Amino acid sequence: MSITEPKIKDALQSVIDPMLDADIVTYRIYAGAEVLGSEVLVKLEIPTPAYPQTARRELEKRVVEKVKALGASKVTVVAKVVTAYQPAPSDKAILKGPKNVIAVAAGKGGVGKSTVAVNLALALSHHGAKVGLLDADVFGPSIPTMLGAPQVPPQASADSRIVPAIHHGLQVISVGFFVDKQEAVVWRGPMVHRLLQQFLGDVDWGELDYLICDLPPGTGDVQLSLSQLIPIAGAVMVTTPQEISIIDVVKGIAMFEKVEIPILGIVENMSYYVCPSCGHHDEIFSHGGGKRLAQEIGAQFFGEIPIDTRIRFGGDAGVPVVVAAPDSENAKRFLDLAVAVATKVARNVLSKPKRSPRLAVIK
Ligand SMILES: Nc1ncnc2c1ncn2[C@@H]1O[C@H](COP(=O)(O)OP(=O)(O)OP(=O)(O)O)[C@@H](O)[C@H]1O
Ligand SMILES: [Mg+2]
Repeated sequence: MSITEPKIKDALQSVIDPMLDADIVTYRIYAGAEVLGSEVLVKLEIPTPAYPQTARRELEKRVVEKVKALGASKVTVVAKVVTAYQPAPSDKAILKGPKNVIAVAAGKGGVGKSTVAVNLALALSHHGAKVGLLDADVFGPSIPTMLGAPQVPPQASADSRIVPAIHHGLQVISVGFFVDKQEAVVWRGPMVHRLLQQFLGDVDWGELDYLICDLPPGTGDVQLSLSQLIPIAGAVMVTTPQEISIIDVVKGIAMFEKVEIPILGIVENMSYYVCPSCGHHDEIFSHGGGKRLAQEIGAQFFGEIPIDTRIRFGGDAGVPVVVAAPDSENAKRFLDLAVAVATKVARNVLSKPKRSPRLAVIK
């Protein structure tokens, strides 16, 4: 019996993607096959650049096994990264270039949103993604400090658009580049809206797989404006382990749900401290609150990040831990976080039927 494409597709329906934990046909990772006699070439589309090599090899192995079982003498798998994203509906299409916008948020100030946003952006970039970072904390921009002096400062393009600064390979925009701190704290609602509109619509972001948005604390104008202006793939919620931070993050989650921004998951920052001299493990802000909350609300728990002087120092010195010490244990936590966040985004996108930009306009 000869091998045909429909037979291959049918057989691959039972192959589970090791990262997405879903079948590769329904989740559009299978992108077709060519049959030449008994030789088969299978095309796969890996939905995120942050897809580990080990998982890729495992996926290819599963595909080859399945197709060989159909009687193929030789199976070649060609896998290329095609970042999954949901095209914006026409009423929210001001942002050109970035495919997935990921918000980093918390109910409370000072819990490490900006630290997580910066290191998450750098970790995604480390995995090969094209990444932008929007400092949407217009009241207290900290991204310029955390990233240090840019390799290329922001500029105006020939057609009067804003060209983002480049820091450690990231495209970065912050109100901190344009006004001083005193001015930044007095933005009112409509001004915040206009400013964000500019940062999204008038910035020449170029093609990006992910645009990470560092949000101010709480549930105010910035969160609301962003949700009105652009589709957001989801929010990463940051909390410290203690009750007061958890209560605030619950409020933040409720607000995002109201404006239909999916919660991608929860990160617990400042989970514990290990003394570098004696190895003593101290749970300064209690421990485990983030995980408990995730379980209670059925969200994914992305893991714990301990208190580490190098994380703090990296932020102050403009060289975040992911670039300062990419092989360190804490950089690895951010690299793993990036994989988990990117996987979750891809899963969310691919679990829904494909929406073409034209269909979105008709709708
Ligand atoms: N895991 C960590 N270990 C050590 N220091 C940390 C850690 N996370 C954050 N910090 C430090 O804590 C301070 C606050 O962090 P950060 O600015 O990221 O918080 P934030 O939630 O963005 O604050 P804000 O609400 O003011 O925007 C910074 O000095 C940062 O370097
Ligand atoms: Mg911040």
